[in-house]
Amino acid sequence: MDKETAIKSLIAERKSYRAFTDQSITREQLGELLYAAHMAASCFNEQPWRFICATKQDEHYPRVFDCLNDWNQQWAGAAGALIITVAATRFAKNSKPNRFYMHDVGLATSQMSLRAVAMGLAVHPMAGFHSDKARQNFHIPDDFEPVTALAIGYPGDPNNLPEDMRSSETGPRDRRPLSDVWFGGDWQQSY
Ligand SMILES: Cc1cc2nc3c(=O)[nH]c(=O)nc-3n(C[C@H](O)[C@H](O)[C@H](O)COP(=O)(O)O)c2cc1C
Repeated sequence: MDKETAIKSLIAERKSYRAFTDQSITREQLGELLYAAHMAASCFNEQPWRFICATKQDEHYPRVFDCLNDWNQQWAGAAGALIITVAATRFAKNSKPNRFYMHDVGLATSQMSLRAVAMGLAVHPMAGFHSDKARQNFHIPDDFEPVTALAIGYPGDPNNLPEDMRSSETGPRDRRPLSDVWFGGDWQQSY
């Protein structure tokens, strides 16, 4: 497959699934995903991302699961692995605030998500988690900030989901028109 076709299919197939099979995720698979994330661009190459990872086989998995909010716990427990992404909020080189840490962690997560598709996996990002619990459970220092939780697994049967989640799992991908976000000569002026 040429690069053009490969990247188009990775982008088309990436989706935030909520239904997962019970297939395990291994440490080696996490390593592949983390490598993809870690090769992302970052402001001054600071690589502000950190990843607290747990597969379901890990003893500390319940401490990650415990950080998710009730709604996300309903489905994310089916995923083979969970990650909490964390960012350094200051530049290591001069301790000044890094305004771009969220951007850089998001970019790393995006690379991880596309790598996951190539492995037959799906990464589902979550804002719905308790960052204070994450801080407490994993002793995250003050100059680092929990950003998202991620559920990682093999896409499964949507029929196993509660009714309200099933429709979004199988429904069309919802995006505003590209012209709403693609500006040219002025704010909101179509390119
Ligand atoms: C930063 C971020 C936070 C999100 N938080 C949640 C969440 O807490 N629970 C959830 O079910 N989905 C969550 N999502 C998934 C979005 O709802 C999903 O990405 C969006 O609907 C687009 O669907 P798609 O990723 O399948 O293209 C989150 C996504 C992002 C990027």
